[in-house]
Amino acid sequence: MLKKFPKNFIFSTSTCSYQIEGGRLLGGRKHSNWDKFTIENYHIPPEGVAEREIASIDIAADYFHRYKEDAKIMKEIGVNGFAYNMDWARIFPDNENDFNEEGIKFYEEVFKSLNENGIKPIPILYHWDSPLWLEEKGGTSSRVFLNAFRNFSKILFKRLGKYTDIWYVSDENSSYTTSAYLDDYNPPQKKDEKEFWKAIYYLSISGAIAKEEFDKAKEKGYVSKDAILGIDHDWNPAIPYDKNDEDDLKACEIFDEYNLDLFLNPNMLGIFPNCFYEAIEKFNLSDMVLEEDLNLMKKKTLDLIGWNYYRPAIIASPKRLNENIEWHNNPGHFITKEAWIVYPKNERYTAWKWLIKPEYLSIASHVLWEKYNKPLMILENGIGYFDERKDGIVRDDYRIDYLNEHLLEVQKAINEGVPFIGYSLWTYCDIFSPSGGYRKKYGLVGVDFENKTLDRFPKSSMYWYKDVINNLRAFDKDELNYNKYYNEALKSFKTNKIWNKNN
Ligand code: BG6
Repeated sequence: MLKKFPKNFIFSTSTCSYQIEGGRLLGGRKHSNWDKFTIENYHIPPEGVAEREIASIDIAADYFHRYKEDAKIMKEIGVNGFAYNMDWARIFPDNENDFNEEGIKFYEEVFKSLNENGIKPIPILYHWDSPLWLEEKGGTSSRVFLNAFRNFSKILFKRLGKYTDIWYVSDENSSYTTSAYLDDYNPPQKKDEKEFWKAIYYLSISGAIAKEEFDKAKEKGYVSKDAILGIDHDWNPAIPYDKNDEDDLKACEIFDEYNLDLFLNPNMLGIFPNCFYEAIEKFNLSDMVLEEDLNLMKKKTLDLIGWNYYRPAIIASPKRLNENIEWHNNPGHFITKEAWIVYPKNERYTAWKWLIKPEYLSIASHVLWEKYNKPLMILENGIGYFDERKDGIVRDDYRIDYLNEHLLEVQKAINEGVPFIGYSLWTYCDIFSPSGGYRKKYGLVGVDFENKTLDRFPKSSMYWYKDVINNLRAFDKDELNYNKYYNEALKSFKTNKIWNKNN
């Protein structure tokens, strides 16, 4: 029998500003790279198809107007954390110096309402979205990014520091840089390997800059002395296609160097791995790398690792390219051609072909702990699905299964000595998903995008999470009472005032 989660464990949900906030031109905000991207690449596939949808994020889930209502719903779930990034274009709409008071006040109000409902905001400084002025000046692949990011972090620590003691510098530098710089999947759609390595460099240095500002904010009393600053990474642990094949095993090592070391070593250990220096030489980028940057990075390492665990990666060596195996269909996402992601037939996948393998969460958490020796937190974990709404609510037993299986692995890892301090699932409510738009549902709480009312409604999974939090544990499969969660959601929808935004 697994020991329960500790009483101070953080049970949280995560989401992201451009995916739910809306209010694009309200409160002094101006456009960001994501506004431009979604406007220019608007694409709605036929209904019910698991393809990429790029829809308008002008209003999204209207969190801009509904954050108080959402804080009450979060309280009903019982969470004590909410991970969210502050929209940079709302705070610095025009340039790196003039901050928008209205923008920062908005987040003060959001954070206050969370605190009033017993919830700790877990702010993330950068989640893939740059103000348009910054993108036009070179964005994350330019030195301009560094000072702009310093100013951005500084004001956030100063004004929002009193509401929380856990912060993260960035979300998924890995999927961000691969899909935005190696590929043209996400903004700024560069498809340029040299720009990719520049972005990796500046993002890594920006982590150290944020830590420097964080420490100064502590000295000034803006942030509490015991506050911690981490980095959030979406490591996909490599599993060999054939565990007895030396080339597949070698490919896994290479994959991990590019997928793990490249993104965590700089800000956790203060050093870049070899593959970074090889690329610097190959692309003639040695002038970019300054001694003072490297010294800062060494001095200002971060305090914890946020891990976005959705799926591991089954890796094959390139020698198999002629074999009849299903390959990842977007090789543009890959940093190295020496390791390839494959989709063996006998595995479980979501409709969007994301591998489901919960056991690697606990297995691989030992690697993170042994290698970096810092506390861990799951910062994203969830399943994108075509939900079906009936009688006003969604019965999402599949989501309960997915989340519960993963949470059990967190509990198991803690029992084995891995210091997880929290679990923040993806996501609180339905969102605009970069790979599936509004059709790919992730939330514990639904948002009525279909009738465009954007009203919130419960799903069974919301009551599963409430039960977990009350009991401080995940459940064995045969203990899961799906009917109970469904009935609670139904009853709540009919009687609880939280579903009416005017209450
Ligand atoms: C992470 C991102 O990559 O995965 C989120 O931080 C994203 O922004 C989530 O929504 C799930 O990905 P997707 O494309 O299915 O929404």
